[in-house]
Amino acid sequence: MPKLKLPAPPLPGKLNPAPRRPGEGNGKVDPLDVAKEAGTSAVGWVDERTSLSGPARWVMFRKVPKGTNWFYTLGSATLFAFLNQAVTGVFLSMYYDPSPTRAYESIRYVTNEAFLGEFVRGMHKWGSSVMVILVFLHMARTFFFGAYKYPRELNWIIGVALLILTMAMSFTGYLLPFDQRSYWATIVGVNINGTGPLVGPYLSDFLRAGPDFGATTLSRFYAIHMLLIPGAIITLIGAHLYLVTKLGTTAPPWLKAEPDERLAEEQA
Ligand code: HEM
Repeated sequence: MPKLKLPAPPLPGKLNPAPRRPGEGNGKVDPLDVAKEAGTSAVGWVDERTSLSGPARWVMFRKVPKGTNWFYTLGSATLFAFLNQAVTGVFLSMYYDPSPTRAYESIRYVTNEAFLGEFVRGMHKWGSSVMVILVFLHMARTFFFGAYKYPRELNWIIGVALLILTMAMSFTGYLLPFDQRSYWATIVGVNINGTGPLVGPYLSDFLRAGPDFGATTLSRFYAIHMLLIPGAIITLIGAHLYLVTKLGTTAPPWLKAEPDERLAEEQA
């Protein structure tokens, strides 16, 4: 019997081209290929459904002026300090009890008994001072570099609100251990508040939750400290960073502007 000859397997060639990958070949991208490629990675999967890579690129890949130096990292350092406060604060809130009879005991438990409690509490306590110092240094940088001038005035105003909120965060947090020092220091602080013009007395009544320091004062401070102010800070940081991205950062003041050739021609 004659031997049966099997046909050779098809080789990629003119009649049987190998499947093209996006961006290969004649430069035209087959939408079907793109659809097949999408979803091969988690990022691609999310991006195909949200188109978030555009905004992410807009935020991450920005041009920075010549002469940008370490002083420009103070804003990000403040942001990092805030994130540290947020993360450690979440863990502290798992143990803290804002009632006048149990607050001190709950903090004692975190410090002496909870796993890594002393470390987390220390990070939160010292982190608050670090954030206050960094926010002032960052403000000084923007002031001395003239970054408050047109067109960044609104970002300066948002910054002032962030500064006030950061101080309010320290003030409301100070009462929470509810020991003798924090109790009396807060009474002094609230009384100083009350001497402010127009809104002063209303503000101190609001903080005390009434005309006198009472049982609800502590829970009010706690709610302001862990819900109201962080929410406002997160919103304002979002607006602050949006404006930084949109407007770019200021060049250092010692840098001379490069001569605009077109303008020079027009003036000649
Ligand atoms: C929670 C507090 C704050 C955070 C997280 C924050 C974050 C940032 C970041 C990341 C930048 C861009 C990089 C840089 O220049 O460092 C920036 C820029 C800026 N910030 Fe803040 N900031 C805060 C508070 C403030 C305060 C208190 C002020 C002033 C009152 C302020 C005014 C500005 C201005 C004017 C710019 C633009 C700088 C430029 O164009 O060169 N910020 N901020």
